[in-house]
Amino acid sequence: MKGSKKAKLLRITLVSLISAGLIGLFLAQFLFRDGGFTAVLNSLSASSKQTPKYAVIPKPANCSFTEETFILTDTASIYINGNNTEETDEIYNIGEYLSEKLKTSTGYPLSVIKSDAPSKGNIYLTTAGGDSSLGQEGYQLDITNSLVTLKAFTPEGLFRGIQTLRQLFPAAIEKNSLVTDTAWTLPAASITDYPAYPWRGMMLDTARHFIEVEDVKRTIDLIAQYKMNKFHMHLSDDQGWRIEIKSWPELTTIGGSSEVGGGRGGFYTQEEYSDIVNYAKERYITVIPEIDMPGHTNAALASYGELNPDGKKKELYTGIDVGFSSLMCRSEVTYAFVNDVIRELAALTPGDYIHIGGDEASSTSKEDYDYFIGRVNEIVSSYGKKTIGWNPFDTSPGTTSESLLQKWNPDSSAAEAKGMKMILSPPPKAYIDMKYDENTPLGLQWAGFIPTKTAYEWDPSDFAPSVHIAGIECPLWSETIKSMNDIEFLAFPRLPGHAEIGWTPKNLRNWKEYKLRLKVHGERMENQEINYYKDPDVSW
Ligand code: ACM
Repeated sequence: MKGSKKAKLLRITLVSLISAGLIGLFLAQFLFRDGGFTAVLNSLSASSKQTPKYAVIPKPANCSFTEETFILTDTASIYINGNNTEETDEIYNIGEYLSEKLKTSTGYPLSVIKSDAPSKGNIYLTTAGGDSSLGQEGYQLDITNSLVTLKAFTPEGLFRGIQTLRQLFPAAIEKNSLVTDTAWTLPAASITDYPAYPWRGMMLDTARHFIEVEDVKRTIDLIAQYKMNKFHMHLSDDQGWRIEIKSWPELTTIGGSSEVGGGRGGFYTQEEYSDIVNYAKERYITVIPEIDMPGHTNAALASYGELNPDGKKKELYTGIDVGFSSLMCRSEVTYAFVNDVIRELAALTPGDYIHIGGDEASSTSKEDYDYFIGRVNEIVSSYGKKTIGWNPFDTSPGTTSESLLQKWNPDSSAAEAKGMKMILSPPPKAYIDMKYDENTPLGLQWAGFIPTKTAYEWDPSDFAPSVHIAGIECPLWSETIKSMNDIEFLAFPRLPGHAEIGWTPKNLRNWKEYKLRLKVHGERMENQEINYYKDPDVSW
């Protein structure tokens, strides 16, 4: 009797152990599938579930934390090491960027040291032994109580990883003044991360209202922290021409002198534009310049009489209508003009692409439009660049799979037939110049109201076949935007969600969990003095 009771007990114990193990394994797959964040959430008490301790945006592909802590002290240094001298020099600059970012709030003079032997208590950035399977932008971040090791296949990957590191420090790290009451801790972590899409951009319309260089740079800094890698500048439209073209100086002296509402406008000199391009490059962001043609060209038509059929300059325009202007598509003067503009712009632009607009050309016949896009495509190619255009740019016989379609209209069948890749900017989701709701003081509403949840809850594959998707971009048109404060109000908090859609795989994203992380970012946005919209759907 006794023996069989013992055996029964043993059987029950074994069955229980196996069941617990199986349940554990079953649960573990979900923990790892969601990048480890559920593990962090579960480790917190029920009452604090509303506030995850670590909130990285975009959410990393793989991530786990332990209870240990790394403490940054005033004696810490940033060790850096590349695979060769050139790479080491590049990583040195990244080390300096990190040092600068951490210096203001911590007050620590973090020196950057070229060495592959970091000692305890330091930060180490390296590409030596970086895993090529993580790609151009991937990184591996390992934090223990004694060392922070950030490893990547490329310096660019290190730069992306640094944005994660920033977000793991207490929010006060983002303050623009010395903070003395905070311990600069990092959670021990192991993060392996890489983006879902190679193109993750924001577009800023500098034409409807001119945006000052300092504000452009701040915008670049704000998008860099969410690992965005493209900054598309809409440089010309009916209301203003914003980039100096030395061979056509009146484009800026006349065409640059207006903006929506009749303000004084402005333009970037070539030196200022290059400064912006370099500022972005230091943040591993490519500037994509756009000259919108053949429509959206009133500012050019107002600058030079010879660009018009009657030889007379048009009046400057300060309203917000579209579709009324066109370059002369059958005139060689037009192509001499476009050739000069593209030549000068291409020489200032290290990126592979020039955006030629192509949208809303309602005053141009389809035949002329197709011919024009073909000619301009040839001009852009002749300067070693490739074109991007808004729909219906893809329908012109002049565009091929070399070009990129920026898809803002539902029909991309021509692009698909040509095997063209696309940047997706679906207006009801991605147009961050739309109002959040009926009470939003800024913004337009033709694509509907876009609260933060709507801007977050979509997937690129909803808008194009996956094989065609290069990535996504959120345009910020500036009909209603006059200042940095306005840019921030419409971009935040929608832009971080957009960045997450571009970076984080679909199966790791859900609004309920995301909005808890976004709430944590409220303090970071405040510390950066970002004028963000307190969307009522998030319990800030
Ligand atoms: C656009 O919104 N006209 C591209």
